[in-house]
Amino acid sequence: MNGIKIKGTGRCIPERVIKNEEFTKWIDTSDEWITERTGIKERHVVTTETACDLASGACLSALENAGKTPEDVDLLIIGTISMDHVTPSLACEVQKRIGAKNAVSFDINGACAGFLFALDTAASYINTGCYKSALVVGIEVLSKIVDWTDRTTCVLFGDGAGAVYVEADETRPFYMVQGTKPDNWEVLNCKAREIESPFAIRESYPKLSDHVFMNGREVYQFAVTTVPKAIQNVLDQAHLAPSDISCYILHQANVRIIQSVAKRLGEPMEKFPVNMMRYGNMSSASMPVLLDEIHREGRLEEGKYILLSGFGAGLVYGATILKW
Ligand code: UT7
Repeated sequence: MNGIKIKGTGRCIPERVIKNEEFTKWIDTSDEWITERTGIKERHVVTTETACDLASGACLSALENAGKTPEDVDLLIIGTISMDHVTPSLACEVQKRIGAKNAVSFDINGACAGFLFALDTAASYINTGCYKSALVVGIEVLSKIVDWTDRTTCVLFGDGAGAVYVEADETRPFYMVQGTKPDNWEVLNCKAREIESPFAIRESYPKLSDHVFMNGREVYQFAVTTVPKAIQNVLDQAHLAPSDISCYILHQANVRIIQSVAKRLGEPMEKFPVNMMRYGNMSSASMPVLLDEIHREGRLEEGKYILLSGFGAGLVYGATILKW
């Protein structure tokens, strides 16, 4: 049996905090609306920090937590949709910054499931025997791609980075379910920055947004129907019942989505830690930041199963079980 162990976790969060009340200075919203509809109270945003700063900080924090050095890393995978450059990948830049000179590095765009897809990829590579260790990162600087005058999106998102250091461990099996449902992918989109080519003829191309656009209701419906099914599928694959999972780490988009999933599974909310009230939706960074928080609080027990599940633009979803 192949498997992996998460040996260390880390995070890096920018200092500047925007509380819900601050938005009322420039948009028609309220702390009450944001809190009731989402569970979010505040979020952090970058001022001087770059994506590379946050991702590197999270990597060094995870390595220190694992008692490892950058040279120990064989593979560095970053899940992100808000990297500093189109090319090279953010992972290459971070590799240089932290001095992970033995690693191979690349990014994955899995939207809000980006960290999960990166972890699944790292585990799959490790299980082939190709590599023995990996740094897996979820990082977003969404503040630079949201429209700060659009109340339907800007109040939801935040910036931050989380990372895990993993190694091959045959005693800890790894199960994963992934899926993409691209039929109505436009419901959550953001156009790539581009210059106008003198040759481009794009009349038939769907009109996309220059900033993050989301049809919240559609994505909400997708999440509450797809996530419980994905979780059940990965539980079946592992021959486990919902009660065998000690902790459910879900993408932190909306506390109501998490409550709905808990109810569907018949599991108590105590097993579903939440931190979106302090960070908002950090897309691919939300799960690794939460994982780091509860790990450092001593809430994860050695040898117990944990389950991670994410969903987002694409529309994509995934569910993963591993042994802590
Ligand atoms: O991470 C990627 C995955 N993303 C998600 O999972 C997000 C999923 N969707 C959601 O979490 C929810 O749909 C939202 C939190 C985005 C929105 O909540 P909702 O209960 O679905 O609200 P809604 O979009 O149906 O809007 C209800 C009303 C609308 O007004 P009318 O048309 O009823 O007059 C909106 O214009 O709330 C209005 N509204 C706001 N009001 C005050 C929308 N945004 C705001 C706001 N402040 N910030």
